[in-house]
Amino acid sequence: MSGRRRKLRVGLAALLAVSLAVVVAACGSDSSGGGGSGSEKKITGAKVIDPASMDKPSKGTIHYCTGKDTTGAAHQMIADFNKKYSSDGYKAELTEFPASADQQRAQFIQRQQAKSDDCDVFNSDVIWTAEFASQKWLYDLTPYVEKSKDTYIAAPLETVHYGEKYWGAPASSDAAFLFYRTDKGGGAPPSTWQEVYSKAKGSGGIVYQGAPYEGLTCDYLELAFAAGGKVLSDDGKKSEINSPENAKALQLMVDGIKGGSAPKAVTTYMEPETDQAWRSGRYGYMRNWTYAYAPNNDKKDSKVAGKYKVAPLPSFEGAGKAGILGGHNSVISVYTKNPGLSLKLADFIGSPEWQKVSLLKYTNAAVTTDTYSDADVKKAVPYASELLQALQQAKARPVSPVYPQISQAIYKNVNDALAGRVSPKDALAKADKQITSALSTF
Ligand code: GLC
Repeated sequence: MSGRRRKLRVGLAALLAVSLAVVVAACGSDSSGGGGSGSEKKITGAKVIDPASMDKPSKGTIHYCTGKDTTGAAHQMIADFNKKYSSDGYKAELTEFPASADQQRAQFIQRQQAKSDDCDVFNSDVIWTAEFASQKWLYDLTPYVEKSKDTYIAAPLETVHYGEKYWGAPASSDAAFLFYRTDKGGGAPPSTWQEVYSKAKGSGGIVYQGAPYEGLTCDYLELAFAAGGKVLSDDGKKSEINSPENAKALQLMVDGIKGGSAPKAVTTYMEPETDQAWRSGRYGYMRNWTYAYAPNNDKKDSKVAGKYKVAPLPSFEGAGKAGILGGHNSVISVYTKNPGLSLKLADFIGSPEWQKVSLLKYTNAAVTTDTYSDADVKKAVPYASELLQALQQAKARPVSPVYPQISQAIYKNVNDALAGRVSPKDALAKADKQITSALSTF
């Protein structure tokens, strides 16, 4: 598949308190999910970074805010940065937010609304660029990004691009895999989701992120997009969530829980709970992001160490394959008092040096293309080339300043269906209404 990908661009004007000249816009599409073509209005008046400011910034300490560091990667990154620069008088400190993506967003928003400089640099999920840039909470990093553009993989780079500017520096990309036990049944990994569910039944089950939060939107859309479903129409103006394709995907997941292929407890799992279940050794399959490969292989507290492999997500019977693009970007708050040092940290995070450690030791997906062909990386991460391919082929979630409302409509109703509170049909009808109402606010 070529580098083309769907990048729905939806602008917001009326919803925001500030009057932004942002319009509905969309860009090139490969297939499903709500892409289209259109135009995009610029966001004007933002503070623009001076790339040279990172060479000799004011001495001091900045704060890096990120989601819960369950693997230790963020601690090491901060320690490495401080080791390198503390003798010059530069220091970064880590502030950990909760593990849930939704709660990380809420924490950052609270601080930005209070014009606080608690987070000089924020590890922002790829889905928030449109919203945060539209709110004018971020430095425009275009002059910095333009210089190193060619080192990045196209997909993660695109996630910092909105309104013709770059609002962050790519930090880590993300794609999910099917984790499967090599000691339970063995053989090749299943090639369809239907097969995953039928095999899971006899091998302890499949665990995934089914709690009502952003993770479930990803887990569900992986099946829905593979089944041929979409979230929005190609012009980004209408909800297309209530389709037969999306219903098939939801039905498979609902039947999976009802029929014992997945434990009912998945309806409360986010990433850390999924890992915990997997480490217990009871389950045959897990859907999780690439980061989960390294820590679950740690013999100290994992019963599955050395007993699993990962495979690219399977296809949906009679339809296609799909993965969701995840990842994070270093964004710089407009309320920082030290933009130069903030950029120095963002630059360190995106550097080949840190990208290599992050992939090699923590199996986080690097944003720099060259990292994947590094000999040490290839040795330590047996699926490095599949990971790169997964990123290149992954589908973006709809890009919109009201994306959080769209996602909420998906995960709340999908979770209701998984928990057996509503039928898949009613869940999608309700999601459709809520997405339509979110879209009508601009
Ligand atoms: C991962 C992904 C991120 C996604 C989140 C959902 O952290 O990188 O993009 O939104 O999971 O839980």
